[in-house]
Amino acid sequence: MSTEHETRMEKIVSLCKRRGFIFPSSEIYGGLNGVWDYGPLGVELKRHLKEFWWRRMVRERDDMVGMDGAILMNRAVWKASGHENTFSDPMVDCKTCKGRFRADQIESIPCPQKPSKMVASCEGEKTEPRDFNLMFTTHVGPMADDSNKTYLRPETAQAIFVQFRNVLETSRKKLPFGIAQIGKAFRNEINPRNFIFRSREFEQMEVEYFCHPHQGMKLLEIWLEERLRFYEDIGIPRSKIRVNDIPDGERAFYSLKTYDLEYEFPFGIQELEGIAYRTDYDLKQHMTHSGKPLDYFDEETKEKFIPHVIEPSAGADRTLLALLCEAFEEEEIVNEKGDKETRTVLHFHPRMAPVKVGIFPLLKNKPALVEKAHEIERMLRTHMSVFYDEAGAIGRRYRRQDEIGTPFCVTVDFETLGEAGPELANTVTLRERDSMKQQRIPIDALHGYLTAQIL
Ligand code: GAP
Repeated sequence: MSTEHETRMEKIVSLCKRRGFIFPSSEIYGGLNGVWDYGPLGVELKRHLKEFWWRRMVRERDDMVGMDGAILMNRAVWKASGHENTFSDPMVDCKTCKGRFRADQIESIPCPQKPSKMVASCEGEKTEPRDFNLMFTTHVGPMADDSNKTYLRPETAQAIFVQFRNVLETSRKKLPFGIAQIGKAFRNEINPRNFIFRSREFEQMEVEYFCHPHQGMKLLEIWLEERLRFYEDIGIPRSKIRVNDIPDGERAFYSLKTYDLEYEFPFGIQELEGIAYRTDYDLKQHMTHSGKPLDYFDEETKEKFIPHVIEPSAGADRTLLALLCEAFEEEEIVNEKGDKETRTVLHFHPRMAPVKVGIFPLLKNKPALVEKAHEIERMLRTHMSVFYDEAGAIGRRYRRQDEIGTPFCVTVDFETLGEAGPELANTVTLRERDSMKQQRIPIDALHGYLTAQIL
């Protein structure tokens, strides 16, 4: 990573901590490597992201339903899916520093003893790579032995496959249709890094879209378009996403075609989401191992077959990090007093922004202004996340909201109270974050205007 990109990443991480987006987990005890907590603003941002994904993937479509599977599942699931035997990364040990590293990343991991060198080129004596299984083991019940061993799920997808029949029968859907799920996944990553990009506990937003084998290739292309449109609609333009058509030999053996959607993070171009044509691999595996029917009978054609699956699988945390990286800017501006200053701003799409509107009385020692501002706050609070602020000069209050990406600020001033004549009474100043332009808007029109922007 170049120094410029490193500095940019450091600034984003620091802003996240300073303004309450993301904190290291268990920080007062020294943290836990690869695990993060979302603070008051981070949780709102993530919620808006997940809600919009759910709206697009489930509510706006009549060929999709949702589910919410348990994190703990019968160990047999992970045997059948292949995770127990093969869900591993290659690892090397360094006999000199006792570090353990992902073998395919040692070119970019700094040596713990000599950080100016990468592990691949430091003097430490390394072992041959060996497989390290990434699943966290746990035990169900009071006996910690092999008979009740299972794992924290490393992906949400398997719950969808093993519930395929239940969902099919209860939802009465016909092919093609999909099942969507958002939930936690756990991987004991050898080297978690790049902030929340590669963590040990994270959230996935996954779709398994079931279809007739003849439709698979066409649907994969349709899903690629659908997912690119999604990123555009949350504020990540198409031009910033690289579609990587994974070549033969690099895909999972059961996948006929896979696209990775990649984003240019400050630390390099990295995967946000995989869209994989998984054929009938998963349903077939579970059918064989459980002995239960997971095939489909087409009433019209009288054909019986195992559905094929297209899987758009996105990481909520990675997408959130992409949103932060895309939004972050330090701008040179001329402030209200005519002085030059640097403005830190997060240009979130209004539908993603953690706080939608800041509400300010011009002066805090004028009860009529404060009262009116609170009235507006109460009016809007039931519809969107708002932040009331009366502390400090108005310019400083704008800057504080810019830094957390609030797209709109409303200021209640003397004109609002009718002191500049009846035509401006009950209007407020509405200031837009990116252009910093201000306009007057009637209080009655505020809710409609803001709702249209954030929807
Ligand atoms: N069911 C398919 C599956 O899990 P994956 O490529 O291993 O596929 C899907 O994971 C997505 O989950 C990735 O594209 C990424 O966004 C996210 N993801 C995977 N491992 C992650 C980790 N350690 N930290 C954060 N996100 C991760």
